[in-house]
Amino acid sequence: MANVFSKRPVVITRGKGALVWDINGKEYIDCMGSYGVALLGHSHPKVVKAICQQAATLISCHASLYNEKRTEFLRKLIAIMPPGLNKAFLSNSGAESVECAIKLARKYTGKPEIIAVMGAFHGKTMGALSATWDKKYREPFQPLVPEFKHVQPDNLEKLREAITDKTAAVILEPIRGEGGIRVPPAEYLPGVREICNAHNVLLILDEVQTSFGRTGKLFACEHWSVTPDIMCLAKPFAGGLPIGITVAKEHIMSSLGLGEHTSTFSGSPLVCAAACAAIDVLINDRLADRAAELGGYFKSKLESLQAKHKIVKEVRGLGLMLGMELRYDVRNVIIKTLARGVLILEAGRNVLRFLPPLVIEKEHIDRVIAVLDEVLGEEESERQGSAVSD
Ligand SMILES: Cc1ncc(COP(=O)(O)O)c(C=O)c1O
Repeated sequence: MANVFSKRPVVITRGKGALVWDINGKEYIDCMGSYGVALLGHSHPKVVKAICQQAATLISCHASLYNEKRTEFLRKLIAIMPPGLNKAFLSNSGAESVECAIKLARKYTGKPEIIAVMGAFHGKTMGALSATWDKKYREPFQPLVPEFKHVQPDNLEKLREAITDKTAAVILEPIRGEGGIRVPPAEYLPGVREICNAHNVLLILDEVQTSFGRTGKLFACEHWSVTPDIMCLAKPFAGGLPIGITVAKEHIMSSLGLGEHTSTFSGSPLVCAAACAAIDVLINDRLADRAAELGGYFKSKLESLQAKHKIVKEVRGLGLMLGMELRYDVRNVIIKTLARGVLILEAGRNVLRFLPPLVIEKEHIDRVIAVLDEVLGEEESERQGSAVSD
């Protein structure tokens, strides 16, 4: 495999709920959640059953033919979407859902320019990468798609100034994930919506990481009562199988003509069966409410670590999308917690990111906090020691 993933020294072979086990049988609490995919927990029995049944019935069916599993999934999806978002294009990843949104915005408006924010992450295919901010991802691949620009985040004035008569759309993550778990001030998203309305510019919300109950609401935009014109979805929507979804208002999606945007695997019955089961579990088990409740608990525990350890700069997040910013690089902490049975993600150099399955138990959270407490304490005394010897 291409050497593009920063590997952790562990072989994972099995998972159940919020736990995974390595090849030696060692147990880990999974706060990585496969980068936010395993939101229902690993191998949820209802998703497994749906996949097995569908695999035995029909795995692939090109979207030029109808299929009742795809129809069932689309009905379930549109039933939970914010009102007005009622036409979907199905693909296979977050980046693909962004590609479709960009093409759709250009096609519908007839304009080329897309405005994103500094610190944004929207994926790594060429269009999505053009909206992504970090220069280490962008620079080796210049020239990117033209007519993209980035403005300061959380600043309505800068956004207003950036809009021109060439602007098709503004694209934003409601809470920036890769950018360090940044929750915007209360007035920001409603303000962006107003500016987009006033200038006839589309609002694309990239909810690839923030949707499906992760932040305590089905979609993060609901925290601010803002509905976009186009929404990008992916990661957890098919219970762990690859999926990307671009959902738009009908009059916008209908601007795409026959053949203008397709994909071989679009809406495969296997993925749609898994996604149907995933939505059922999400709604029936009230997982968004659980994320709000357990997220509050987890955040308060992280804040108590902040009070105790000077190395911790800030705790941020909503629901079970949490970040802890350290004053130093987090790599050591990640490796040390891994050795003690806790998987944690980074978000940039200094932020520990927690995207656990929403089925995580309080007892697991307590164990994560105990391990972090130990590791942060060690890091602090090691750094003090090296400061003295310096
Ligand atoms: C907000 C956001 N958009 C897009 C993507 C890209 O998704 P994928 O890696 O499935 O292409 C990600 C992935 O982390 C993401 O967090």
